Amino acid sequence: MYLRDYYNRFSLDKSLAEVVGHNPYYLRIDSGLDEKILVNGQEMIDLASNNYLGLATDARVKQAAVEAIQKYGVSLCGTPIATGYIDLYQRLEERLSSFVGLEETLILPSCYQANNGLFSCITSSQDLIVVDRFAHSSLIQGIKSAGCKIRPFLHNNLEHLEGILQRSTGYRQVFVVTESVFSTEGSIAPFKEIVQLCENYHAMPVIDDSHGIGVLGKSGQGILEEQGIEGYQGVYTASLGKSLANSGGIISGKKKLIDHLKYYCPHLVYSTALTPAVLAGTEAVLDIIRSEFGVIKNRMVTYQQKIYESLVEGGFAVLQGKAPLNSIQSGSKEATLILAKKLYERGIISTPFIEPSVPINEGRVRLIAGANLTRDTIAEATGIIRRIGDL
Ligand SMILES: Cc1ncc(COP(=O)(O)O)c(C=O)c1O
Repeated sequence: MYLRDYYNRFSLDKSLAEVVGHNPYYLRIDSGLDEKILVNGQEMIDLASNNYLGLATDARVKQAAVEAIQKYGVSLCGTPIATGYIDLYQRLEERLSSFVGLEETLILPSCYQANNGLFSCITSSQDLIVVDRFAHSSLIQGIKSAGCKIRPFLHNNLEHLEGILQRSTGYRQVFVVTESVFSTEGSIAPFKEIVQLCENYHAMPVIDDSHGIGVLGKSGQGILEEQGIEGYQGVYTASLGKSLANSGGIISGKKKLIDHLKYYCPHLVYSTALTPAVLAGTEAVLDIIRSEFGVIKNRMVTYQQKIYESLVEGGFAVLQGKAPLNSIQSGSKEATLILAKKLYERGIISTPFIEPSVPINEGRVRLIAGANLTRDTIAEATGIIRRIGDL
């Protein structure tokens, strides 16, 4: 095959964005996540980033990152098993373990990588993975690469899950995989009940708490704290790039499992360690959460509620729940991009999800109001949302 023909296979269909007259993806951001962000040079309200607690530009977090750079430089240019395992790294592992209340923790360059690498290390071809049908791409890709049997269960549906578990005999080990906050839906898994089902059927629970860590629970410790799950025996993963306002991903759980992954998870062993700035920045965020979580969460919840009310008044279909975000059920791909365009043209950045991120014709437009925004900005945003609803 000629190389030109080969590359032609990758041509991208952008016709929908052309018809709608707006491509909401890969917008160029010219600032940090400040009160207003600069998008293609224009000031916009950020309802798109996962900066739940608004700490990505907090002066204390930036200072901690700067000090770490001054002490260690910008990179240790090595994987954690080699030169990447600095004292900051070890300390953050310990801090995160005690934060989520589990024995030990590994830190990887991203939670995508954590979820992607986990399953091929902890399963074998005689195992079964039962997974929520709305699970994140990183879980699905990781599960597929494990090469064991896979059964999806209906989203957050305990009866369906139990039915599958009842019929799943003859496997060496059964795993049940889900997320805490499903951020495209705005729903939260009934994880306490899922853990109980796992106990009843001797299955191993695996939870991705990426949108729950730093947000859910009385002190921000995530889904286990939120749902009062004590003595969790399963596997836990989360992103450090959302409420924890940095980057990276963790796998936490029993010491035996973490020790094994430390040497056998290629996604950890063969990938450059997180940078000193990010390690120190995450630790600074944990310090802030420890002392200020109540106040910050209050602000975040108030803003989320105000946005929710404006969406309802504007006639949008949204779920009300405890998730720290609002997700508009926008329907078709076209309707989803049109709504994102209307918001964009009036000064709001949102996150539109179309297939394959969500099922066909079940488009979503997600809005997350970070706690760093001011009441005036939220009032401006809610006014815009109401007016769009009236159009
Ligand atoms: C549920 C879930 N898991 C994992 C990830 C990946 O996290 P990271 O950005 O740390 O790779 C995301 C990010 O979109 C997510 O929403």
